[in-house]
Amino acid sequence: MKETLAYYICSMNKEIVVSGIRSTGYLHLGNYFGAIQNYVLMQENYECYFFVADYHALTTHPDPKLLKANVYRVVAENIASGLDPNKVALYAQSDIPEIPELYLMLNMLAYKGELEKVPTFKEKVRSQPDNVNAGLLTYPVLMAADILIQRAVKVPVGKDQEQHLEMARNFANRFNTRYGQEFFPEPQVFRFNQSAVKIMSLDGNGKMSKSENVNATIYLSDDDDTIRKKIMKAKTDSGPTEHNSVMPDYIQNLFLLMDLTAKPGIADTFRSQFNNCTIRFGDMKKQLAEDMVAFVRPIREHAANLQADETAIKKILKDGAEKARAGASKTIEGARKLIGINYY
Ligand code: TRP
Repeated sequence: MKETLAYYICSMNKEIVVSGIRSTGYLHLGNYFGAIQNYVLMQENYECYFFVADYHALTTHPDPKLLKANVYRVVAENIASGLDPNKVALYAQSDIPEIPELYLMLNMLAYKGELEKVPTFKEKVRSQPDNVNAGLLTYPVLMAADILIQRAVKVPVGKDQEQHLEMARNFANRFNTRYGQEFFPEPQVFRFNQSAVKIMSLDGNGKMSKSENVNATIYLSDDDDTIRKKIMKAKTDSGPTEHNSVMPDYIQNLFLLMDLTAKPGIADTFRSQFNNCTIRFGDMKKQLAEDMVAFVRPIREHAANLQADETAIKKILKDGAEKARAGASKTIEGARKLIGINYY
């Protein structure tokens, strides 16, 4: 057993991190500050595998042309946001045939009853009742395969994915128990030291997310004028009438965005104006709009240039797949052996 384990332990001795990026939707500030920025920090200290979850996207039968364009865009936007394909393995899930192979093996250890109970599945049954396919039901098994194929120990995911991760631990343990070896480590949720930044929608309605109001969401692909318009329309009010009032959350959100994008000191100036009731939100938003434009523009331009360079994107995906398959093929080889399906 020791020998087998040693064989798999990576010589780099860094902890292995895996995370999947959805291939649908345009990236926005919520993704940028909530997730990508943390990936960028992680790439320095962990052995990172970040992939575009294109197989997962097939559960909703996307148009083939759009799917491909989306994958290219997501790769370009993530790199423009700071992910370095020389430091991490950045790949498409469907380029790793070992993932569906492990998915098949894990499906034999996943039970209909437990899969039907998953809240994200139940939600899909409600929202798309005429397409409740088996891929949707076994979504958590595929996600477990994504993670276990690299024998990852850390997975940076949001609250909504924690149950999927718990299932991945269950499948790993079931495999280990059935085949008598600590083959798969238990993947844990990766929590960031500094509490993850949560950006609210500019209309004050919950978090900035893909499905929310597009006019209250700033996308990394928005042009300068669109950004200005969206910021100027952000929800404010007539301002405080008492010194040192408590800030409503939608005002706090504007200050947070200002802290994240403006030069040091600027937000503090407006904060004192808020505290002594002289603030004019129109002026504050004008300032924020310009800082936001300056912040998003280089990311947008970098992403657009990269996306237009198909040769570059293809090379990044190909190199990423090669890196990811190195470990993946070892995992499959080991799993086949343990299951007994190695015949020659
Ligand atoms: N299910 C995740 C989401 O919806 C994406 C995902 C797929 C993922 N496979 C993964 C995340 C593996 C972490 C690890 O956001």
